[in-house]
Amino acid sequence: MLSAEQNRLITEVGPNTPGGNLLRNYWQPVALIEELETNRPVKNVRMFGEDLVLFRDEQGRYGLMDRHCPHRGADLCFGRLEDGGLRCPFHGWLFDVTGQCMEMPAEPPERKFHEKMQANAYPCIARSGIIFGYLGPGDPPPLPAFDCLEAPEEYTFAFKGLIECNWLQAVEVGIDPSHASYLHRFFEDEDPDDSYGKQFRDQVADSGIPVTKVMRDFDRPEINVEETESGLRLTTLRELDDQDMHVRITNLVFPNAFTIPMSAEMNITQWHVPVDDVTNYWFAIFTSFGGEVDRKTMREQRLQLYSTPDYVANRNKTNNYGFDAEEQKATTYTGMGMDINTHDQWAIESQGIIQDRTKEHLGTADIGITRYRRLLQKSIQTLQDGGELTFAKGDGNGHSLRGPVAIDAIAPIDKWQESWKEADLKRREKSGWAKNPW
Ligand code: FES
Ligand SMILES: [Fe+2]
Repeated sequence: MLSAEQNRLITEVGPNTPGGNLLRNYWQPVALIEELETNRPVKNVRMFGEDLVLFRDEQGRYGLMDRHCPHRGADLCFGRLEDGGLRCPFHGWLFDVTGQCMEMPAEPPERKFHEKMQANAYPCIARSGIIFGYLGPGDPPPLPAFDCLEAPEEYTFAFKGLIECNWLQAVEVGIDPSHASYLHRFFEDEDPDDSYGKQFRDQVADSGIPVTKVMRDFDRPEINVEETESGLRLTTLRELDDQDMHVRITNLVFPNAFTIPMSAEMNITQWHVPVDDVTNYWFAIFTSFGGEVDRKTMREQRLQLYSTPDYVANRNKTNNYGFDAEEQKATTYTGMGMDINTHDQWAIESQGIIQDRTKEHLGTADIGITRYRRLLQKSIQTLQDGGELTFAKGDGNGHSLRGPVAIDAIAPIDKWQESWKEADLKRREKSGWAKNPW
């Protein structure tokens, strides 16, 4: 339980808020690369309560800057992509990707007024299907060497979706291992052969045991949490019998992402990026340690569930997430279909626009959430005291931010501590690209 003030501090993200300043200190997903693969790559983006314009110039560089022109405030989303930048249609001021003004056609050329004009702009890097931006102070830190950002492009697939509530409750679902036994319960297990690209439907490693069965039959896991260089590692243990332990390793990636196993071969790293205090986008990178990803299939599967251009889930609160009472009796725990993102979205949004954490009652199984909030509060305090944030920023060149390892494994009960690491290393060796993260 938090006080109202504590809840406000860790959920608010607008300009000059303590929580917003914290998130701005880290690279954040801005858009999918596919969103700019159009014949006019200019797009409005709202993040952290700021209205921005994202564009790709003629050289293929990405620019992210204030949506309103610094001259007289016209909307640069209607700008003309030409002459090496984005030109405001109102009086023709031209900006490059760094926000530097290159031309002011109506001003006397000898004044060189444009040289002094710099629009507020943020650096961008495109990687693994996502354009990342750094909206914080000073020089950006290096991009972390996470698996999802180091993998060759063909081993990754990225997608996003809109969630209509505060970002924090969405991240908190990702580090809540016990909900999978209920929220994502299926009364029957799917044939793993039909499970490609779907979450939670594979078998555990190559044990032949469906993940869905383990989750259903063992609903009181032991959860341990330890701090790592990139956030928190959650170790969730389910004792299957007197010989076998199911080990599930998931991670909080500080400050607003998590990495979890999706299937035997694939992991998901998912950020929840605030649009403002009451809306966020999830951005996920699916990373394969097996073969190359079948992107076309994965994209088609998701386009059946989401509508572009805003990536709104077809099942959402306006249609009760497709809730069906008969289905709830017979097929799924929620009665909201087979897509686990729908279940999560219901759980997240139904907590309220900004969850009132003064009224909750956390238990032992919520230890990941408790530890995460402490990290957020500590980092916010550091910033408020005028200090510099170092947590989850790597060793200065980003290279200590690796992995993080996320895996489902069945291990001998007396050797589970080493066993999941060995299983992960074996998978990495076979992948041909993934480095040893230790
Ligand atoms: S408002 Fe943009 S150039 Fe004048
Ligand atoms: Fe979930």
